[in-house]
Amino acid sequence: MEFNNFEDVIKFAIAREEDAVEAYGSMSEKAKSPGLRELLLELQEEEKNHKKLLVELTSQKIASLKPERVIDLKISDYLVEEPTGPEMNFQDLLIFAAKKEQSAIELYTKLKNSSDDADLQKLFDFMAEQEKAHKYKLEVKYEEHVLEED
Ligand SMILES: [Fe+2]
Ligand SMILES: [Fe+2]
Repeated sequence: MEFNNFEDVIKFAIAREEDAVEAYGSMSEKAKSPGLRELLLELQEEEKNHKKLLVELTSQKIASLKPERVIDLKISDYLVEEPTGPEMNFQDLLIFAAKKEQSAIELYTKLKNSSDDADLQKLFDFMAEQEKAHKYKLEVKYEEHVLEED
C-alpha cells in the first residue's frame, strides 16, 4: 500500500470502516441469540464512531487520543472460518467477526509502520488497539459460549 498524501490514506481508512459497519449490520441480522446480536450492534456502533473520527479528523483530535493497550487472546487465530451463508451459528459468527477484526488490526499496524508522519502513526496505533479491543470482546464471548456448552 502506497499513499501519496494524508488525505488518501484517511480516505482509504474511512472506506474500511464503512465496510466494517456494513459487515456488523449483516452479521447482527444473522444472530439468533439476543446477547450476540447486542454485542455485534455495539461493535457496529464503535465502527461508526471510527468513521466519524476519521471524517472529522483534526490534529487536536489526534493529540487527544489515548490508546489503551489490549491483550490478544489469540483464540480465533487457531479456529477455522466457515464460509459465510444465511445459516451461521453462534460460533461461526464469532469466528468470522474475530477474523475480520484481526485483518483490521493487521491493516492499521501496517499503516502505522509504513507512515513517517507522527500524527498518522499515533492515529493508526490508536485504531489498531481499538480493533484489538473488538477482537478481545468477541473472543471472550466465544469462550463463554464454549464453556456454557461443556
Ligand atoms: Fe474500526
Ligand atoms: Fe473493529
